[in-house]
This record gives sequence, C-alpha cells and structure tokens, in this order.
Amino acid sequence: MTTDKVIELRGVQQRFHARGTPDGYLTAVADASFRLDAHPPQVVSLVGQSGSGKSTIARNILGLQRPTDGTITYGGKDIFKLSRSEYDDYRRNVQPVFQDPYSIFNPFYRVDRVLWKAVKKFSLATTREAGLALIEESLRAVSLDPDRVLGRYPHQLSGGQRQRIMLARIHMLRPAFVIADEPVSMLDAQIRKMFLDILLDFQRAHGMTTLFITHDLSTVYYLGGQVMVINKGEIVERGPVTEVMHTPTHPYTRLLLDSIPQPDPDARWTTRITVDESTATPPTDTATEATPII
Ligand SMILES: Nc1ncnc2c1ncn2[C@@H]1O[C@H](COP(=O)(O)OP(=O)(O)OP(=O)(O)O)[C@@H](O)[C@H]1O
Ligand SMILES: [Mg+2]
Repeated sequence: MTTDKVIELRGVQQRFHARGTPDGYLTAVADASFRLDAHPPQVVSLVGQSGSGKSTIARNILGLQRPTDGTITYGGKDIFKLSRSEYDDYRRNVQPVFQDPYSIFNPFYRVDRVLWKAVKKFSLATTREAGLALIEESLRAVSLDPDRVLGRYPHQLSGGQRQRIMLARIHMLRPAFVIADEPVSMLDAQIRKMFLDILLDFQRAHGMTTLFITHDLSTVYYLGGQVMVINKGEIVERGPVTEVMHTPTHPYTRLLLDSIPQPDPDARWTTRITVDESTATPPTDTATEATPII
C-alpha cells in the first residue's frame, strides 16, 4: 500500500497552560493515534462531548497547532517538517470546513472572493472565463444557483448557503482529505441532510476522505463508515459505525448513546447529564494561528 496519501497520528498529545489546574496545565488531547487513508475514500467520524479535544485534533492535523508530543505524518513525513512544496501539496490536499463559515468570510467582500482566492492560490484556471466556469460548476454541484449567490455579501446569504459555498470551494479543490469540524451543528435538519449527502457524494464521485467531527451520534449514524469515540482527549473506542453503535464496549460510548433524546414525551430523560469541568475550562492560552488556512 502506498503511504502517499495517508495522514497518521501517533501518540499525539496537546497540553495547554491553564490556571486552576493542579500542575498549571490542561491536557486537551491525551493520546491520539489513528490514520486516515485516502484510498479507499472513507468517512471517519470523531465523536465526543464538548471539551473532549475534537477541535484541538482538527487544528493539529491542519497544522495550526503543533502538538506537545507525538507525531502527525503525511506520506510518512512529519507535517511540521515538510519542505515548501510538500507543505503546499498538504495544504491543497487537506481542506477544512468549520462550524461557522461566517468567520471565514470577510464581511466587506462579496462571497465570490473566497472562491476566487482558491482559484488563484491553487492555480485552478488560467483565464478569468475558465475560473468563472469552474466556480459556477462547483456552486451548481452543491445545489446553489450562481446567479443567486455570486455578487452577494456574506450577511445576505443564509447559514446553509454560506456553508455550501465552503463545500463548493472543496468541490473545486478536490482535496484528498476534508477535515470537517462540526460543520452541520448550526444547520436545520433539512439543510443538514443536504450537506451530509453532498459530502457522501464527494466521497463517492471524487474520492475524498473526510474526518467528520461532531457531538451528534445521529449524524454519525447517517454518515456510516468508521467512528472514533473520544473522551477527555483519549480515543476510547473505534470501529465501524454500526458495530460501535449497536454493541458499544466502552461505558462512555454507552453514556453518549443513552444521551440521545427520545422523541417520546412519555420517555423523558431521567438521568442528569454532567459536564466534567476539568476538561471544559475556557482557554487561557492564545492559540498559535500559524497561517490563515483559507
Ligand atoms: N488554545 C488553547 N489554550 C488553552 N486551552 C485550550 C485551547 N484550545 C482548547 N483548549 C482547551 O482544550 C480542551 C479541548 O478543547 P476542544 O476545543 O478541542 O474541545 P471540543 O471537543 O472541540 O469541544 P466542543 O464540542 O465544545 O467544540 C478544552 O478544555 C479547551 O478549553
Ligand atoms: Mg470543537
């Protein structure tokens, strides 16, 4: 098997300075080891409650935060030691989608800019006409009408439309990997389904592997594929979604499954859900925003 398009995390640990902890540190990621293969393309979900370290792992993979310990390799090479051209290749092939696309858009520019920036940065077209044709094709691929979104400012679009513009950007770039951090948490059920279907289409039609980060098990179930359950920075269970959901072996996975609300008013929650505050303290350290990623 080629090691070319493989992201591998080995013993990744991320600690942050934090007030109020016994040793002045907070361990956001205790020990994460897993690999993402581009071939065959797959969806791997990372599920866990708030503060369990999911976004930190995403930031580590995207190269925005250097882990305190452990390694992340791409094609066998440490992503923090890549040459300029290898790093460019990594940036092209590992694309993010975040929960709140609004923060990606500059409110003073039309939404077109995010797409044109991708065309220019990654030399996707040699002429303006070819660039525009590509942008329009990608907007249609995510069920957006170019005439209705191009030329608009971010606040003139709905959250679902803004999020699909980020998918159009991915459609243009055709990365090997998509790192999606809670991309559907702010969308209503119908748009959420549309978004997930587009991601699954991309996987099938363009061979993209997605790391899908969420706290919502029903979304994991819908996507299928593989799932990893993270608790307090540690991956406690992993396997095919159906297996993990039907026969969970770790108590934390069972707790997550039991926490899914029942649409039955006679079967209300009786147990109290508690959040472990030791993993939910607000950040006291400023993240090292290496380079803007979009
Ligand atoms: N830059 C930082 N400095 C200090 N602490 C941080 C930093 N980034 C994250 N943390 C802490 O690390 C822990 C894990 O945070 P992370 O954002 O990875 O959780 P999460 O699983 O994505 O949660 P959510 O579901 O709420 O998005 C939290 O306790 C958080 O406060
Ligand atoms: Mg998060």
